[in-house]
Amino acid sequence: MYKILDGKALSLEKRENLKVLVAKYEKERNQRVGLAVILVGNNPASQVYVRNKIKACEEVGIKSYAYYLPEDIKESDLCDLVKEVVENPAIHGVLVQLPLPKHINADKVLALIPRKKDVDGFSEENIGRLCMNEDCLVACTPNGIMSLLASEGISTMGKKAVVVGRSNIVGKPMAMLLINGDATVTVYHSKTKNLKEECLQADILIAAIGKAKFITADMVKEGAIVVDVGMNRDENGKLCGDVDFENVKDKCSYITPVPGGVGPMTITMLMFNAYWAAIRS
Ligand code: GUN
Repeated sequence: MYKILDGKALSLEKRENLKVLVAKYEKERNQRVGLAVILVGNNPASQVYVRNKIKACEEVGIKSYAYYLPEDIKESDLCDLVKEVVENPAIHGVLVQLPLPKHINADKVLALIPRKKDVDGFSEENIGRLCMNEDCLVACTPNGIMSLLASEGISTMGKKAVVVGRSNIVGKPMAMLLINGDATVTVYHSKTKNLKEECLQADILIAAIGKAKFITADMVKEGAIVVDVGMNRDENGKLCGDVDFENVKDKCSYITPVPGGVGPMTITMLMFNAYWAAIRS
Protein backbone atom coordinates (compact mmCIF):
# COMPACT_ATOMS: atom_id res chain seq x y z
CA MET A 1 0.00 0.00 0.00
CA TYR A 2 1.46 3.36 -1.01
CA LYS A 3 1.54 6.48 1.11
CA ILE A 4 1.04 9.97 -0.30
CA LEU A 5 3.80 12.50 0.29
CA ASP A 6 1.44 15.38 0.98
CA GLY A 7 3.23 18.62 0.12
CA LYS A 8 0.14 20.70 0.67
CA ALA A 9 -0.32 19.58 4.29
CA LEU A 10 3.39 19.85 5.10
CA SER A 11 3.50 23.31 3.54
CA LEU A 12 0.64 24.51 5.72
CA GLU A 13 2.42 23.24 8.81
CA LYS A 14 5.76 24.76 7.81
CA ARG A 15 4.22 28.10 6.86
CA GLU A 16 2.55 28.27 10.30
CA ASN A 17 5.96 27.76 11.92
CA LEU A 18 7.55 30.35 9.64
CA LYS A 19 4.86 32.90 10.44
CA VAL A 20 5.99 32.84 14.07
CA LEU A 21 9.66 33.25 13.10
CA VAL A 22 8.90 36.12 10.72
CA ALA A 23 6.83 37.94 13.38
CA LYS A 24 9.69 37.50 15.87
CA TYR A 25 12.19 38.86 13.32
CA GLU A 26 9.98 41.87 12.68
CA LYS A 27 9.60 42.62 16.39
CA GLU A 28 13.28 42.21 17.21
CA ARG A 29 14.68 44.07 14.21
CA ASN A 30 11.84 46.52 13.80
CA GLN A 31 11.86 45.65 10.10
CA ARG A 32 9.80 43.45 7.78
CA VAL A 33 11.29 40.54 5.86
CA GLY A 34 11.24 41.78 2.24
CA LEU A 35 11.11 39.71 -0.94
CA ALA A 36 11.20 41.16 -4.47
CA VAL A 37 9.59 39.20 -7.29
CA ILE A 38 10.32 40.34 -10.84
CA LEU A 39 8.18 39.07 -13.69
CA VAL A 40 8.88 39.93 -17.31
CA GLY A 41 6.17 39.39 -19.90
CA ASN A 42 2.90 37.47 -19.96
CA ASN A 43 3.84 33.79 -19.70
CA PRO A 44 0.62 32.35 -18.16
CA ALA A 45 2.41 29.69 -16.08
CA SER A 46 4.86 32.29 -14.73
CA GLN A 47 1.97 34.59 -13.87
CA VAL A 48 0.37 31.81 -11.79
CA TYR A 49 3.67 31.00 -10.04
CA VAL A 50 4.29 34.66 -9.22
CA ARG A 51 0.75 35.14 -7.94
CA ASN A 52 1.18 32.11 -5.66
CA LYS A 53 4.52 33.41 -4.39
CA ILE A 54 3.03 36.77 -3.51
CA LYS A 55 0.06 35.10 -1.83
CA ALA A 56 2.44 32.96 0.24
CA CYS A 57 4.32 36.11 1.33
CA GLU A 58 1.06 37.55 2.64
CA GLU A 59 0.29 34.31 4.48
CA VAL A 60 3.58 34.23 6.39
CA GLY A 61 3.96 37.99 6.92
CA ILE A 62 6.72 38.69 4.40
CA LYS A 63 6.49 42.02 2.58
CA SER A 64 6.50 41.41 -1.15
CA TYR A 65 7.73 43.86 -3.76
CA ALA A 66 6.29 42.86 -7.13
CA TYR A 67 7.64 44.20 -10.42
CA TYR A 68 5.66 43.45 -13.59
CA LEU A 69 7.63 44.37 -16.67
CA PRO A 70 6.69 44.32 -20.35
CA GLU A 71 7.75 41.42 -22.60
CA ASP A 72 9.75 43.77 -24.83
CA ILE A 73 11.75 45.43 -22.03
CA LYS A 74 15.35 46.08 -23.04
CA GLU A 75 17.92 43.86 -21.37
CA SER A 76 19.79 46.94 -20.13
CA ASP A 77 16.61 48.36 -18.55
CA LEU A 78 15.92 45.08 -16.76
CA CYS A 79 19.53 45.00 -15.54
CA ASP A 80 19.22 48.57 -14.25
CA LEU A 81 16.08 47.66 -12.33
CA VAL A 82 17.65 44.52 -10.81
CA LYS A 83 20.70 46.57 -9.75
CA GLU A 84 18.43 49.07 -8.03
CA VAL A 85 16.34 46.38 -6.31
CA VAL A 86 19.32 44.45 -4.95
CA GLU A 87 20.65 47.66 -3.39
CA ASN A 88 17.44 48.26 -1.41
CA PRO A 89 18.14 47.36 2.25
CA ALA A 90 14.44 46.66 2.87
CA ILE A 91 14.59 43.85 0.30
CA HIS A 92 16.36 40.75 1.60
CA GLY A 93 15.64 38.38 -1.25
CA VAL A 94 15.36 38.93 -5.00
CA LEU A 95 13.81 36.57 -7.49
CA VAL A 96 13.60 36.94 -11.26
CA GLN A 97 10.95 34.56 -12.57
CA LEU A 98 12.18 32.29 -15.36
CA PRO A 99 12.00 31.84 -18.27
CA LEU A 100 12.89 35.32 -19.46
CA PRO A 101 12.03 36.40 -23.02
CA LYS A 102 14.50 35.13 -25.62
CA HIS A 103 16.14 38.51 -26.28
CA ILE A 104 17.33 38.68 -22.66
CA ASN A 105 20.39 36.81 -21.42
CA ALA A 106 19.10 35.24 -18.20
CA ASP A 107 22.59 34.40 -16.91
CA LYS A 108 23.59 38.03 -17.18
CA VAL A 109 20.52 39.17 -15.23
CA LEU A 110 20.81 36.50 -12.52
CA ALA A 111 24.50 37.31 -12.04
CA LEU A 112 23.46 40.72 -10.71
CA ILE A 113 21.81 39.16 -7.65
CA PRO A 114 24.28 38.87 -4.77
CA ARG A 115 24.64 35.45 -3.16
CA LYS A 116 22.94 36.44 0.09
CA LYS A 117 19.85 37.77 -1.71
CA ASP A 118 19.68 34.91 -4.23
CA VAL A 119 16.59 33.22 -2.75
CA ASP A 120 16.33 30.91 -5.78
CA GLY A 121 19.79 29.50 -5.07
CA PHE A 122 20.65 29.80 -8.78
CA SER A 123 23.85 31.84 -8.50
CA GLU A 124 27.21 30.31 -9.32
CA GLU A 125 28.32 30.94 -5.75
CA ASN A 126 25.31 29.25 -4.15
CA ILE A 127 25.52 26.29 -6.53
CA GLY A 128 29.25 26.03 -5.78
CA ARG A 129 28.65 26.13 -2.04
CA LEU A 130 25.95 23.47 -2.39
CA CYS A 131 28.48 21.24 -4.19
CA MET A 132 30.89 21.81 -1.29
CA ASN A 133 28.07 21.07 1.21
CA GLU A 134 28.48 24.50 2.77
CA ASP A 135 25.83 26.82 4.21
CA CYS A 136 24.00 28.45 1.29
CA LEU A 137 20.66 29.33 -0.22
CA VAL A 138 19.41 26.14 -1.87
CA ALA A 139 17.17 25.94 -4.96
CA CYS A 140 13.59 25.73 -3.70
CA THR A 141 12.20 22.69 -5.53
CA PRO A 142 15.00 20.25 -4.60
CA ASN A 143 15.08 21.66 -1.08
CA GLY A 144 11.33 21.12 -0.79
CA ILE A 145 11.71 17.52 -1.94
CA MET A 146 14.35 16.83 0.73
CA SER A 147 12.06 18.36 3.32
CA LEU A 148 9.15 16.22 2.13
CA LEU A 149 11.26 13.05 2.42
CA ALA A 150 12.53 14.05 5.86
CA SER A 151 9.00 14.74 7.09
CA GLU A 152 8.18 11.05 6.62
CA GLY A 153 11.45 9.96 8.22
CA ILE A 154 12.76 8.73 4.86
CA SER A 155 16.54 8.52 5.00
CA THR A 156 18.48 8.95 1.78
CA MET A 157 21.60 7.36 3.24
CA GLY A 158 22.84 4.45 1.13
CA LYS A 159 19.77 4.58 -1.14
CA LYS A 160 20.05 4.44 -4.89
CA ALA A 161 18.54 7.69 -6.12
CA VAL A 162 17.79 8.36 -9.75
CA VAL A 163 17.13 11.90 -10.94
CA VAL A 164 15.58 12.10 -14.39
CA GLY A 165 16.30 15.56 -15.76
CA ARG A 166 19.45 17.67 -15.57
CA SER A 167 18.18 21.24 -15.38
CA ASN A 168 20.05 23.87 -13.38
CA ILE A 169 16.83 24.60 -11.47
CA VAL A 170 15.94 21.06 -10.37
CA GLY A 171 18.00 18.12 -11.67
CA LYS A 172 21.51 19.30 -10.85
CA PRO A 173 20.86 20.79 -7.39
CA MET A 174 18.65 17.78 -6.57
CA ALA A 175 21.53 15.43 -7.35
CA MET A 176 23.84 17.50 -5.13
CA LEU A 177 21.43 17.46 -2.19
CA LEU A 178 21.01 13.70 -2.50
CA ILE A 179 24.78 13.19 -2.63
CA ASN A 180 25.13 15.41 0.45
CA GLY A 181 22.47 13.16 2.00
CA ASP A 182 24.69 10.10 1.39
CA ALA A 183 22.60 8.63 -1.43
CA THR A 184 24.19 6.98 -4.47
CA VAL A 185 22.97 9.21 -7.25
CA THR A 186 22.59 8.87 -11.00
CA VAL A 187 21.29 11.63 -13.24
CA TYR A 188 19.52 10.59 -16.41
CA HIS A 189 18.35 12.79 -19.23
CA SER A 190 17.01 12.80 -22.76
CA LYS A 191 20.18 11.27 -24.23
CA THR A 192 20.38 8.39 -21.72
CA LYS A 193 20.19 4.92 -23.24
CA ASN A 194 18.11 2.21 -21.53
CA LEU A 195 16.33 4.73 -19.36
CA LYS A 196 13.70 2.18 -18.35
CA GLU A 197 16.22 -0.37 -17.04
CA GLU A 198 18.09 2.36 -15.19
CA CYS A 199 14.96 3.75 -13.53
CA LEU A 200 14.02 0.24 -12.38
CA GLN A 201 17.09 0.29 -10.09
CA ALA A 202 15.92 3.34 -8.17
CA ASP A 203 14.96 3.27 -4.49
CA ILE A 204 14.17 6.97 -4.89
CA LEU A 205 13.06 8.17 -8.31
CA ILE A 206 12.83 11.90 -8.96
CA ALA A 207 11.00 12.77 -12.18
CA ALA A 208 11.88 16.25 -13.46
CA ILE A 209 11.54 15.84 -17.20
CA GLY A 210 8.65 18.10 -18.16
CA LYS A 211 6.73 15.46 -20.15
CA ALA A 212 3.23 14.36 -19.15
CA LYS A 213 3.06 10.84 -17.62
CA PHE A 214 6.53 9.99 -18.93
CA ILE A 215 7.34 7.61 -16.03
CA THR A 216 5.22 4.51 -16.47
CA ALA A 217 4.66 1.54 -14.14
CA ASP A 218 7.18 -0.66 -16.00
CA MET A 219 9.93 1.84 -15.10
CA VAL A 220 9.35 1.71 -11.34
CA LYS A 221 10.71 -0.82 -8.85
CA GLU A 222 8.33 -2.38 -6.35
CA GLY A 223 8.48 -0.33 -3.12
CA ALA A 224 10.18 2.69 -4.70
CA ILE A 225 9.72 6.25 -3.47
CA VAL A 226 8.56 8.35 -6.42
CA VAL A 227 8.72 12.14 -6.47
CA ASP A 228 7.05 13.99 -9.32
CA VAL A 229 8.29 17.49 -10.16
CA GLY A 230 6.26 17.75 -13.38
CA MET A 231 3.47 20.22 -14.02
CA ASN A 232 1.89 19.38 -17.36
CA ARG A 233 -1.48 19.10 -19.06
CA ASP A 234 -2.67 15.68 -20.23
CA GLU A 235 -4.56 14.94 -23.46
CA ASN A 236 -7.79 16.20 -21.82
CA GLY A 237 -6.19 19.41 -20.58
CA LYS A 238 -6.09 18.12 -16.98
CA LEU A 239 -3.13 19.02 -14.77
CA CYS A 240 -0.72 16.08 -14.43
CA GLY A 241 2.85 15.32 -13.53
CA ASP A 242 5.74 13.54 -15.23
CA VAL A 243 4.59 10.30 -13.60
CA ASP A 244 1.65 8.19 -14.73
CA PHE A 245 0.27 8.40 -11.18
CA GLU A 246 -2.74 6.08 -11.51
CA ASN A 247 -0.70 3.18 -12.86
CA VAL A 248 2.49 3.79 -10.88
CA LYS A 249 1.10 4.41 -7.39
CA ASP A 250 0.47 0.77 -6.42
CA LYS A 251 4.14 -0.10 -6.97
CA CYS A 252 5.35 2.64 -4.64
CA SER A 253 5.96 2.88 -0.93
CA TYR A 254 5.59 6.67 -1.21
CA ILE A 255 4.51 8.92 -4.07
CA THR A 256 3.84 12.64 -4.49
CA PRO A 257 0.59 13.74 -6.15
CA VAL A 258 0.27 16.49 -8.77
CA PRO A 259 -1.04 18.94 -7.74
CA GLY A 260 -0.40 19.01 -3.98
CA GLY A 261 3.04 17.39 -3.86
CA VAL A 262 6.21 19.19 -4.79
CA GLY A 263 4.59 22.47 -5.99
CA PRO A 264 3.49 23.88 -2.61
CA MET A 265 6.81 22.85 -1.07
CA THR A 266 8.75 24.88 -3.64
CA ILE A 267 6.98 28.06 -2.61
CA THR A 268 7.30 27.26 1.08
CA MET A 269 11.05 26.83 0.68
CA LEU A 270 11.18 30.19 -1.08
CA MET A 271 9.57 31.77 1.98
CA PHE A 272 12.15 30.09 4.22
CA ASN A 273 14.95 31.30 1.94
CA ALA A 274 13.67 34.88 2.20
CA TYR A 275 13.70 34.54 5.98
CA TRP A 276 17.20 32.97 5.83
CA ALA A 277 18.38 35.95 3.76
CA ALA A 278 16.86 38.43 6.22
CA ILE A 279 18.40 36.75 9.25
CA ARG A 280 21.85 36.93 7.64
CA SER A 281 21.48 40.52 6.38
N1 GUN B 1 10.58 29.12 -13.18
C1 GUN B 1 10.22 27.85 -12.88
N2 GUN B 1 10.60 27.53 -11.63
C2 GUN B 1 11.23 28.61 -11.13
C3 GUN B 1 11.84 28.89 -9.88
O1 GUN B 1 11.90 28.07 -8.96
N3 GUN B 1 12.37 30.15 -9.76
C4 GUN B 1 12.33 31.07 -10.76
N4 GUN B 1 12.89 32.26 -10.54
N5 GUN B 1 11.77 30.83 -11.92
C5 GUN B 1 11.22 29.61 -12.10
